[in-house]
Amino acid sequence: MLIHLHTYGCQMNQYDSELVRTLLNEDTVEWTPSPEDADVILINTCSVREHAEQRALGRARQLVHLKRYKPWVRIGILGCMAQKKQTDLFDEVPGLDWVVGPDEYRKLPWLIADEKSPKLLVDIDSGESYDDVFPVSISPPTAFLAIMRGCDNFCSYCIVPYIRGRERSRPLSSIIAETHDLASKGVSEITLLGQNVNSYSDGDHDFADVLRTVAEIPEIERVRFTTSHPKDLSNRLVQVMAEVPQICPMLHLPVQSGSNRILKLMNRQYTREQYLEKTRMIRESVPEVAMTTDILVGFPGESDQDFQKTMDLLEEVRFHGVFSFRYSIREGTAAAKLPNDVPEKVKIARLETVIDRQRSISRELHESRLGDTLEVLVESPAKKGDGFLMGRSPQDEVVVFSANGTKIGDLCSVKIHQVRGFTLVGELVS
Ligand code: 5AD
Ligand code: SF4
Repeated sequence: MLIHLHTYGCQMNQYDSELVRTLLNEDTVEWTPSPEDADVILINTCSVREHAEQRALGRARQLVHLKRYKPWVRIGILGCMAQKKQTDLFDEVPGLDWVVGPDEYRKLPWLIADEKSPKLLVDIDSGESYDDVFPVSISPPTAFLAIMRGCDNFCSYCIVPYIRGRERSRPLSSIIAETHDLASKGVSEITLLGQNVNSYSDGDHDFADVLRTVAEIPEIERVRFTTSHPKDLSNRLVQVMAEVPQICPMLHLPVQSGSNRILKLMNRQYTREQYLEKTRMIRESVPEVAMTTDILVGFPGESDQDFQKTMDLLEEVRFHGVFSFRYSIREGTAAAKLPNDVPEKVKIARLETVIDRQRSISRELHESRLGDTLEVLVESPAKKGDGFLMGRSPQDEVVVFSANGTKIGDLCSVKIHQVRGFTLVGELVS
């Protein structure tokens, strides 16, 4: 049986797709990158914004047409949109065979093998954290590792807590076992994933313990993590980042807005001042840290003055990178009850203002790397070909350089002599 699996959305969804591959990985199964060749098509979806849903729906509707000349093909929608829309999806995508939420992946082999299995599997299981399922298809030297699932924060705009269910952490022992497994397959850089990694707790250990323990495993040269909630970023965590050299000096700390009024409406549970204090604390202890953030523009009631406060915060913090989004209503969330009163045109203009300003800040920060020698973990051949390799600095900057005998998985030193867009170009130093 040939299966095609397409993934939309965040790193957690990419990780989940690898769990799906592992769960379905039997001798009778082969994977194909081309949906036209497949007998089974699975689409792992994201619901965080309207746009992400529309893209996945469009793709699913298009792929259902393959049944016209291959009537045996079966198509399933997995992940967040499956959980959110449930049975409605069968109306929205006529010809769809399965709808499977993120806590139901263990049933996929049965679903696919048995004609009589149910078409809709969307129970939320607050005990499910796939502790014992280790991804089989990985591409060393880097890998994702989910340490927790779900979210209890209920930011007023966000659908995630309703779809992904309550926060649940994997036991540290299973995280260590998976790290050893990844290390044995050539992985030396791990990105620990969770909707809110800072609130990790398995009853005996907190997130700082996870970081320390994973970093102690001899083959692991680098540890990254995402995403952190500002309210839970503790001194203890910052101290661990400062003390343990394997933990990369980077922090994705979504701020969403620079206006206290909007932050309150968003139920973010911190103020602008508290956020800025956290950034000062981390920069004091980890001076070389590269910070990134998420910005949400056009939240209900966001005035020009509120938006200006977000722009001022961008100037003040000078993030390495910003992921910016236009607010879209998610039915069922608290904010959906507020009037969605910022006109689309204004949202688009604000988004462009953020992107434009941030592009210059990111460029300036990249240019400040000229002449620096960076430690690079080599990940793949570079797009530009010709014996060039691509890797990343500890701060997650993309670095391209001429191979000169180095290979994928090597850690090497590269002196930067050019900045092209957001790529640093350099040469090996011995
Ligand atoms: N509309 C737009 N963006 C959203 N995000 C979450 N919910 C919404 C929404 N309703 C953004 C936030 C979050 C990121 C993952 O997606 O910025 O940090
Ligand atoms: Fe959504 Fe807030 Fe949870 Fe992030 S922390 S997943 S934005 S509810």
